[in-house]
Amino acid sequence: MERMHFLLFFLLPVLVFQGYYCQRGFAVTVTYDHRALVIDGHRRLLLSGSIHYPRSTPEVWPELIRKSKEGGLDVIETYVFWNYHEPVRGQYNFEGRFDLVRFVKTVQKAGLFVHLRIGPYACAEWNYGGFPLWLHFIPGIQFRTTNTPFKNEMERFLAKIVNVMKEEKLFATQGGPIILAQVENEYGNVEWAYGVGGQLYVKWAAAAAVDLNTTVPWVMCAQEDAPDPIINTCNGFYCDQFTPNSPSKPKMWTENYSGWFLSFGYAIPFRPVEDLAFSVARFFETGGTFQNYYMYFGGTNFGRTAGGPLIATSYDYDAPIDEYGFIRQPKWGHLRDLHKAIKQCEPYLVHSDPTYVPLGPKLEAHVYYKGSEGCAAFLANVDDKMDMNVTFNGNSYNLPAWSVSILPDCKNVIFNTAKVVSQKILGDLSYGSTTIMKENLFATSTWNWYKEQMGIWSNNSFTASVLLEQINTTKDTSDYLWYTVSIDVNEKLSPNKEKEVFLLVESLGHAALIFVNKRLVGFGYGNHDDASFIFRKAITLKPGNNTVDILSMMIGLQNYGPWFDVTGAGLFSVSVSDLLKASGDFSSREWTYQVGLEGEYLGLDKPSLANSSLWTSGNQLPINQSLIWYKTTFIAPEGSGPLALNLASMGKGQAWVNGQSIGRYWPAYLSPTSGCSQNCDYRGSYDASKCLKKCGEPAQTLYHVPRSWVYPGENLLVLHEELGGDPSKITISTRTGQEVCAHISESDPPPVDYWTLNSGFNPMLSPEVRLICEQGWRIASINFASFGTPEGQCGKFNHGICSADNILSVIQEACIGLESCSIPVSTLKFGDPCPGLVKTLAVEALCSV
Ligand code: GAL
Repeated sequence: MERMHFLLFFLLPVLVFQGYYCQRGFAVTVTYDHRALVIDGHRRLLLSGSIHYPRSTPEVWPELIRKSKEGGLDVIETYVFWNYHEPVRGQYNFEGRFDLVRFVKTVQKAGLFVHLRIGPYACAEWNYGGFPLWLHFIPGIQFRTTNTPFKNEMERFLAKIVNVMKEEKLFATQGGPIILAQVENEYGNVEWAYGVGGQLYVKWAAAAAVDLNTTVPWVMCAQEDAPDPIINTCNGFYCDQFTPNSPSKPKMWTENYSGWFLSFGYAIPFRPVEDLAFSVARFFETGGTFQNYYMYFGGTNFGRTAGGPLIATSYDYDAPIDEYGFIRQPKWGHLRDLHKAIKQCEPYLVHSDPTYVPLGPKLEAHVYYKGSEGCAAFLANVDDKMDMNVTFNGNSYNLPAWSVSILPDCKNVIFNTAKVVSQKILGDLSYGSTTIMKENLFATSTWNWYKEQMGIWSNNSFTASVLLEQINTTKDTSDYLWYTVSIDVNEKLSPNKEKEVFLLVESLGHAALIFVNKRLVGFGYGNHDDASFIFRKAITLKPGNNTVDILSMMIGLQNYGPWFDVTGAGLFSVSVSDLLKASGDFSSREWTYQVGLEGEYLGLDKPSLANSSLWTSGNQLPINQSLIWYKTTFIAPEGSGPLALNLASMGKGQAWVNGQSIGRYWPAYLSPTSGCSQNCDYRGSYDASKCLKKCGEPAQTLYHVPRSWVYPGENLLVLHEELGGDPSKITISTRTGQEVCAHISESDPPPVDYWTLNSGFNPMLSPEVRLICEQGWRIASINFASFGTPEGQCGKFNHGICSADNILSVIQEACIGLESCSIPVSTLKFGDPCPGLVKTLAVEALCSV
């Protein structure tokens, strides 16, 4: 029996998929009608997920895509990131993490389709929304409106990408995986701000895209006025209410948020899977045929790719695959079950439009008929509190609040969005909790350091009698710009006396360190919603000359909003007010500027400087100092999994491993202490601030180091610390195990993949506990097992009053040493410890490398 379960569980989906995609490699046509995308003449119901190629490394792309396919996806969606593909006008980069062709081919090899969102505006919490900064300096340019210099550049880049894809034969009509392309991104949300120019731009962008003759349909997301033949698609937390702008276009959803993005200084957003599954089921219930998770795998904003302001380095997004590439349970598993249930309905869904059947207040059914061949139905309870019983087709059903039941034969419920039967995982590497990890400490004695210069550090500085806007000045070659001014205190007026004054610094953002006479007096900073800030502090000036050095910092260029590209940064006013007399405005004094840090200029982050005599060594490791570079070497924990640096002891800065930037860090910025809800109620409308965790804590303490960036033996770690921290407390870890658990009752349905339209559920089948480890890991021990009335929840199970004997050994025998196992929840297996009661099987196991 077990063997049969195993075969059904693992082989059946593989066979189905292979049959499905036997066409790959052959040219197919892609068109659409009012119901769906039509691929090779067949309407298709498609499940899609976003994976942005540069947010992971090419070494792990195949694994991420394999997990996406196993999770039930048909399509991988990605943006194209112009600023990294064309860092200098006319000079292209398609290497490494930016090897778009390799990424698309990796998806193709797995037998999945691609939705290529060329944009070229991406948004995506990506630096400058994906635009190259040089674009901003083209004379007369205005972004995203009917402006000739902009349109020329946009057209050139669109054509470049389409041609690269055509040359590699990557469009579906050429035998490739690309079935869909996107031009622009959510322009409809900002169009109002561009007036008539905006409307003309939409028409122009649509025509420019169509002219490229990709031979696959184009979409514009959140664009109600998308001209034919472009499909306007929905983005949002729910899209069941959405209708396309023409009856000839299918109802498609390009961004269903699996969670939300993270900003420094904010609590961590998460979206309960019951609500996510509810939104997806409601969409297919009400006529949708294409749905994309934004993100299915979020990944990491390495280097300075994070958008802004203040987007964190982790782009985990609470996605079904976590930042480190591990499957997030129960999210991944519950959605996988949902996808299987929806696919069971595909023959009906692609055949007809839904028929609405009212069932009562806030109770709805939608039925899809296929002539005399029967029907599939979705039953929904959209009340956010009350579970309800409904009667449908003469049968009665219990519908939990805020849930959808799926009935592929209009009779049997094979899935309900609120009933999660997938296993759970204890701890979560992305959030730094109790997952089993192997940790290495760095020995204090191995650290070297270099004190960054304070203020102007070279003769390539320059002066101006005005406060300069930062982005125009640095051209984003560095996060940093020094602003230096000298303040003269008249010795005659205050002979030999120090003067107490107020220093007032006003900045457009994003943060600044302020030094007076080379001593740090403070740190000002904004936040993601408003990066501007005012810094006010009493300072002491000495008679004669005083210097004020301000290091203004950028934390990711703006990526969203109307005219986001001209949002400025840096100081706009500096004044000193005498306690007794009038204030002095220093904004138009002579300021001296220096772009970047000396350490950046020297290349201290580079392995070639690792043995340089610039670095100081000694027993007295300086801690809690601002503007200091640290360097050490480390041996990575064994294994082949991803690594995480724990930077909780540090303030704010950037870190590099073997010369590769792992991103900006800022654990010193704590999130507000309120607004979190550990057990966020999934019932009711979700928004990005509804479910938050880690209030009063850093947004991010763990920083991802891809395994392919470290070598066996010694590795170099360099940090540039801006505020002050203690590097001796940094650790590096890898995950070597995880605890999985499940809790399934006799009254739960058998696993959804045992259902087929021809034969339904085999009446002999029972519900099952399924334990699945990451690929290559094995079940090492069973930490808890009880069949009867176990109490508590995952991680805290106890035996209840009724409990079968000897079940631990039965489960050990069935599972230990295997990558996965299934155990039927049945008295046939365990005997009946309490006849008449509905029994539950609860199991907790340890998977390890
Ligand atoms: C959307 C945008 C995406 C992403 C998302 C938030 O508005 O289209 O690119 O920025 O918001 O994560």
